[in-house]
Amino acid sequence: MGDGAGPDRRGGAGVGRSPLTGGNAAARPCDSGDDRRVTTTRDPQPTLAGRRVRLRPWRPDDAGAVFAACQDEEIQRWTEVPVPYLREHADGFVGEFAAATWAAGGAQFAVETVDGGLLTGAITLFPPRDGVGVVGYWTLAAQRGQGYTAEALRVLSAWAFEKVGLRRMELVVDPANTGSCRVAEGAGFLAEGVLRHRSIHRGRRVDDVVYGLLAGDPRPHRDHRAE
Ligand SMILES: CC(C)(COP(=O)(O)OP(=O)(O)OC[C@H]1O[C@@H](n2cnc3c(N)ncnc32)[C@H](O)[C@@H]1OP(=O)(O)O)[C@@H](O)C(=O)NCCC(=O)NCCS
Repeated sequence: MGDGAGPDRRGGAGVGRSPLTGGNAAARPCDSGDDRRVTTTRDPQPTLAGRRVRLRPWRPDDAGAVFAACQDEEIQRWTEVPVPYLREHADGFVGEFAAATWAAGGAQFAVETVDGGLLTGAITLFPPRDGVGVVGYWTLAAQRGQGYTAEALRVLSAWAFEKVGLRRMELVVDPANTGSCRVAEGAGFLAEGVLRHRSIHRGRRVDDVVYGLLAGDPRPHRDHRAE
């Protein structure tokens, strides 16, 4: 999955773990090689508005901020970003990989504040399979703890169910990643089980918690901070 390897076109996909979508490695939406061969005609990627954050398509001039953000040890610890994280990874993430993800039915979004347009992080819906979409995210160290990620996940989920037509969304998280578990729960995802030693992360066997949200599940729509 690119850990510790050289240039990797995913360059910051930021998913916590290899997603479980089809029960086999070939179904992993992280693997962008096959995605690039899928050509579909889609409308331009939209901007999705929340109360405090909006999700917009990446722009080439975001690469510097992505490069800086992905030097953070927490992002490198918990996601699949390449280590070391190079400028070319960031260029690929906001450019080629974002376009390929959209063409394959997923979407990569920059998350920014509604008030002032400050970049807060990244959230990605990997190309769905059979109506199931897997999400990954990271947030800039300086912007954590303000509820931005949980709101971004709520906004993305609403769009994915209501506009993309998904029936299920998933998050795959290390159980030790308390912050990400709280984000998932804050967006209404349910922890469905721990898969022991399911992943190899940076050369280590780790457990995965699979979080799921169905289209018909109750979803919190508002952040208590914004009430
Ligand atoms: C995990 C991460 C995305 C959380 O982002 P964030 O913007 O701080 O999360 P939010 O502010 O939206 O927090 C949502 C909830 O989680 C809680 N939370 C966030 N980080 C927490 C932590 N480290 N420990 C305990 N609770 C935490 C918040 O207090 C909030 O709870 P509340 O709604 O009850 O107030 C961020 O820490 C990050 O980017 N980590 C590195 C990358 C990563 O782990 N990505 C996910 C891989 S699966």
